[in-house]
Amino acid sequence: MNLPAASRLQFTPDLNICRILNGMWQVSGAHGRINSQVAIDSMFKYLDAGFTTWDLADHYGPAEDFIGEFRCQLVDTRGKDALSQIQAFTKWVPRPGKMTKKFVEENIDISLRRMNVQSLDLMQFHWWEYRDKNYLDALKYMAELQTEGKIKHLALTNFDTEHLKIITEAGIKIVSNQVQFSLVDRRPEVQMIEFCQQHDIKLFTYGTICGGLLSENYLGKPEPRGFDLTTASLKKYKNMIDAWGGWRLFQELLAILKEIANKHGVSIANVAARYILDKPTVGGVIVGARLGVSEHIEDNAKVFSFSLDDGDRDRINAVSRQSRDLYQIIGDCGDEYRR
Ligand SMILES: NC(=O)c1ccc[n+]([C@@H]2O[C@H](COP(=O)([O-])OP(=O)(O)OC[C@H]3O[C@@H](n4cnc5c(N)ncnc54)[C@H](OP(=O)(O)O)[C@@H]3O)[C@@H](O)[C@H]2O)c1
Repeated sequence: MNLPAASRLQFTPDLNICRILNGMWQVSGAHGRINSQVAIDSMFKYLDAGFTTWDLADHYGPAEDFIGEFRCQLVDTRGKDALSQIQAFTKWVPRPGKMTKKFVEENIDISLRRMNVQSLDLMQFHWWEYRDKNYLDALKYMAELQTEGKIKHLALTNFDTEHLKIITEAGIKIVSNQVQFSLVDRRPEVQMIEFCQQHDIKLFTYGTICGGLLSENYLGKPEPRGFDLTTASLKKYKNMIDAWGGWRLFQELLAILKEIANKHGVSIANVAARYILDKPTVGGVIVGARLGVSEHIEDNAKVFSFSLDDGDRDRINAVSRQSRDLYQIIGDCGDEYRR
């Protein structure tokens, strides 16, 4: 399978990425048991299908090690040049507290070692507590490490617009922010998108297919309860749906999405991803991959095979207008991590 050119984004001068990124939270253990070798074998399938870009974090179980091992096996089987085909975006999620250059560098070095790279393609920094201003020191030291060659590009995850502004005004060049953005959670539309557009910052989005809830699997189905929600991802986004408007409204959304999907010969998940990919400043949608457990490679490739029209978007927006305002309930992007 070859993805069309429209699947690619020249994200930075040196990073050409796939606009559907493979999310690796799903190998952390909270989404079912993962067999390492089967998982790494399946990483080759993603690469060969054109899904070349990985999203991971220091705390996603073995995710960084999987990238390291995948890179080793790529070199062994296909030669060193094959490494240039993959991009791996990690995160550092430290506990708040005093940040020294030594501490920051030690932690970046751990990711470099685990991922078996000389330089991190993208470091997406997360911070739990805005009252603790040490995040600015952490970013300052990471910017130094970038100058020294250990990091190619600096990015954030789950930062709200106010703090993204503070960081930008401190002279730290941020290329992207990773946030939750879906047909259920449209908070980035309130102010994040506009700020990012003004400052040439891309958004990478998660939760875009709500852990799989935005799919045929849940169309016309009774409301799933606790034990039906078998992954951390399903639990997370079911809570979001409850806050947004509940299962009945969600079924209305699924029904409209199904009609639109049928019209284009694609799936509900495709429509949900396409809608967000088309939003301004969105660089890519991250779709979680339970490596070796389940796979949607062929279906997700169809995201690049069709376009939504104004009529499709109007129908979707008409359902969204009936929902509660998550920005009012939760706050700006990432605020759900800081309550
Ligand atoms: N920065 C953060 O705070 C943060 C938070 C959450 C996630 N993330 C990132 O985003 C990634 C995605 O995680 P997520 O929790 O948002 O999950 P998600 O991408 O919304 O959902 C992933 C699940 O959706 C199902 N799926 C995928 N493609 C499908 C298709 N075409 N049709 C039907 N179902 C499909 C699969 O379920 P089955 O496996 O059951 O088939 C898959 O495991 C993570 O791996 C991580 O990289 C970041």
